[in-house]
Amino acid sequence: MRDFIYEIPVKVYFGREQFGHLGQELSRHGKKVLLIYGGGSIKRTGLYDKVVSEIEKADLKLYEYSGIEPNPRIDSVRKGAQLCKEEHIDVLLAVGGGSTIDAAKYMAAAACADCDPWDFLEKKAPVKEALPIVTILTLAATGSEMDACGVISNPETHDKIVGMSPKLFPKASFLDPTNTYTVSAYQTACGAADIMSHVIETYFNMEDGLYMLDCFMEGLMQTVVKFAPVALRDPENYEARANLMWASSWAINGFISGGRSHLWSCHPIEHELSAIYDITHGLGLAILTPRWMEYCLNERTVSKYYQFGTRVFGIDASLEPMTVARKSIELLSEFFFKTLGLKSTFTEVGIQKKDFAHMAQKACEGDVLQSGLGPLKQEDIEKIFEMCL
Ligand code: NZQ
Ligand code: ZN
Repeated sequence: MRDFIYEIPVKVYFGREQFGHLGQELSRHGKKVLLIYGGGSIKRTGLYDKVVSEIEKADLKLYEYSGIEPNPRIDSVRKGAQLCKEEHIDVLLAVGGGSTIDAAKYMAAAACADCDPWDFLEKKAPVKEALPIVTILTLAATGSEMDACGVISNPETHDKIVGMSPKLFPKASFLDPTNTYTVSAYQTACGAADIMSHVIETYFNMEDGLYMLDCFMEGLMQTVVKFAPVALRDPENYEARANLMWASSWAINGFISGGRSHLWSCHPIEHELSAIYDITHGLGLAILTPRWMEYCLNERTVSKYYQFGTRVFGIDASLEPMTVARKSIELLSEFFFKTLGLKSTFTEVGIQKKDFAHMAQKACEGDVLQSGLGPLKQEDIEKIFEMCL
C-alpha cells in the first residue's frame, strides 16, 4: 500500500436551504463577481434570477460571461480571462456542470498570468496563482465542484487535455440537488455513467490498497446503480438527485484513490473520442468501459472482477470466478445500455474506424497507457476500439 496525502480545501454547502450563504461566501474575496455559465439552462430554470438577487443583496458588482460549451473550448477560456483582467474581477462564480466549472478554473488561472491558457494544459507553464472560484453545481457528473482538475478542448488541434493544480480547487461549492431536477434524461444518464467510471477507474487496480476504500467505492457504485434509474423515472426525486450529487463529488475528490497509484484508463481514451467527435463524455465512457474490462480480464485480474460482481451486483459468490467476472461485465453493460438507455456502439454515435490508429496513439502518448489492469499499448487500444464498433 502506498503512502498518500489527502487534502480537499473545498467548503461544501449541501442542500435546499444553503443559498443564503452565497453572498457572504463571495464577499470574502472582494466586490467584483464574474458570473460564468453555459448555454442558458440557468435562465430557463430560474436559477439565474436567484443568483443575481443574492449578489445584489450582498451589494456586490456583477459581471457576466456566458456561452460555455459542453466540452469547453480554449477560446472561451481566453475570452473569459481577458474579461477578468480588463475588469479587475475579484472572484469567479461558475454556475453549471463540469464544462462551466472547468472553463472557470482555467480562466481563473489565466487571469493571473501572462501566458496563453493553453500553455497550462500543454504543461508548458505551471499554474502559479488563480483567482478564487465559487461554484453552484447544476449537473451531477464530473466532480469538478470538489476537485482540482479542468478539461479543456482545442478544436483547432483536435486536442482535449486534462490539467490539474491545487490552485484550481473551488473555495466553496453549493450543491443543491433541486438544481439538478431539470437535467435531461440523457444528461442524467451520461452523468451517472461518468460517476460510475470515476469509481471503476480507481477500483480496478491490481495493487494492494485499503479494504475500507474498496468498501466505500462499492457503496458509491451501488448508490449510482440504485438511484440513477429513480432519477430517470422521477426527475424531481430529492433522495435520488441528492445521492447522485454527493456521489459525483466523492467519486473524484481524491478520497477513494488513497493508497494506490492513480492510473486512469478509459478517461484518457475517451478524451480522444471527444476531441475529434465532440461526443458527451459520459456516453463515450459507457461505450468504452465494458469493452476495456472484457479486454483486460484474465487469470491475473479476475479476482477484482469477482469482488466487483459479487459485492456491487450481488452475483452468486459460489460461482466460478471467471463466470462471475463475465456476468459482472454483462450486468454493467445492461446498466449503461438498458437501464440508462445509452447508445452502446461507436457505429451508433458515428465514430469511424479511420480515426482508430490516431486516437489510440494519442491516448497512450505514443508509448504505453498505464492502466489499473495492466499497461495498454496502441495496438491494445485499437483492439478495444474494434470491440466498440
Ligand atoms: O450549457 P447549459 O445551457 O447550462 O446546458 C448544459 C449542457 O448542455 C446542460 N445542463 C447542465 N445543468 C443543467 C442542464 N440542463 C438542464 N438543467 C440543468 N440543471 O447539460 C449539458 C452538459 O453540461 P456539461 O457541463 O458539459 O456536462 P458535465 O457536467 O458532464 O461536464 C462535462 C465536461 O467535464 C469534463 C468532461 O470531459 C467534459 O468536458 N470532465 C471534467 C472533470 C473534472 N473537472 O474533474 C472530470 C471528468 O472526468 C470529465 O472529463
Ligand atoms: Zn469523467
